[in-house]
Amino acid sequence: MRTTALRISHIVRHLSTSSRAAMSYPSTIKGVGIKQTGGLEAIEELSLPFPEVKSTDLLVKIVYGGVNFIDTYMRSGLYPPAFLPLPIAKEVAGVIVELPTDESVLHSAAFKGRGFKKGSKVAIDVTGSLKEYVSVPWDGNVFPVPDDIPVRVAAAAILQGITALGQVTEAYDVKKGDTVFIHTIAGGVGLLHAQIAKGRGATVIGTTSTPEKAALAKAHGADHVILYRSENVVERALEITNGEGVDVIYDGVGKDTFEDDFKYIKRKGTIVSFGNASGPVPPVPLFKLTEKNVKLLRPTAVNWVTNVEERDRYSAELFKLVASGELKINIFQDYPFTAEGVRQAQSDLTTGKTTGKLLIKVADE
Ligand SMILES: NC(=O)c1ccc[n+]([C@@H]2O[C@H](COP(=O)([O-])OP(=O)(O)OC[C@H]3O[C@@H](n4cnc5c(N)ncnc54)[C@H](OP(=O)(O)O)[C@@H]3O)[C@@H](O)[C@H]2O)c1
Repeated sequence: MRTTALRISHIVRHLSTSSRAAMSYPSTIKGVGIKQTGGLEAIEELSLPFPEVKSTDLLVKIVYGGVNFIDTYMRSGLYPPAFLPLPIAKEVAGVIVELPTDESVLHSAAFKGRGFKKGSKVAIDVTGSLKEYVSVPWDGNVFPVPDDIPVRVAAAAILQGITALGQVTEAYDVKKGDTVFIHTIAGGVGLLHAQIAKGRGATVIGTTSTPEKAALAKAHGADHVILYRSENVVERALEITNGEGVDVIYDGVGKDTFEDDFKYIKRKGTIVSFGNASGPVPPVPLFKLTEKNVKLLRPTAVNWVTNVEERDRYSAELFKLVASGELKINIFQDYPFTAEGVRQAQSDLTTGKTTGKLLIKVADE
């Protein structure tokens, strides 16, 4: 009796925040994430209230979640979680099940321009999204997915794709004839960087740990791959570039590689430090940049796309490259939507076992 009363109160609360007919939705949904920061053991299955759906929100049934290093930073507390319990992935893709109900939104040119319809596919990059349903403002960090892109590919492409696109255009605009250096070139972001840079006519140099990963990187546009465990990265980079150094370095490794980046960056070159796979880069004295008049950036994907125009422009370019085959999305493995599945995915990612993209399969499409 008491359980029934509670269930009804959940549904009534949901209806009061949304005028849509919500009776077919459950009052609680499953997520996977953390209640407190910690090691892999902190990941657990979560029972979460059905999301509050505002009149300006899309309601999305999630089909896949993308696994990213940032998930491990949030789980460990390196990036303090914005709220708890926190479902851990921020990158997901799925299908719109409810549109906004606000008439002024529905009739606006900006909303219509995004092409959102019930049943259409979207990708989302919002912290705390690894759960069965996500509500997101129609003009929030949600991206229309064209009909010819499978939802699984969209989940695999969106976050790392925007990262790579932003970095090869706005951080340093890669041009024909440039020499581009990509750390962990066989990783999720790395394989995308390599293909886009190669597509622009650059010479692509990268690092990885094994010959198998090197072969994969070469199949995705790398001209030279340095095996950093057995070769001296600085010496090889200078040898390949006849002592000149490279125009741009994309460095997602962080602590272990940052200092050496300055030894083979060209004078007036650009270092894009964008991750902490080996730990965060300590504070850098500005004066260090004078040695070669180097430009140094520390960008993050979400800040390439902070409004509807940028979101739609970036995602359209990304999915166009994917649809044309110019950008191959290399999926390593689908992991189950369980605590064990997410633990295994995070463990595989952080111990260097993987190439390309890791996914969590949340539901059938
Ligand atoms: N700023 C942003 O917006 C943004 C967005 C996405 C990702 N990132 C960052 O980009 C980096 C790569 O992310 P990703 O998702 O594409 O992952 P990933 O490269 O697929 O990550 C796994 C690979 O990192 C390499 N690695 C090198 N040093 C490592 C170390 N000390 N510990 C563990 N792995 C190490 C390993 O490849 P090898 O075997 O080749 O060494 C491993 O297979 C991460 O630092 C991530 O935080 C930043």
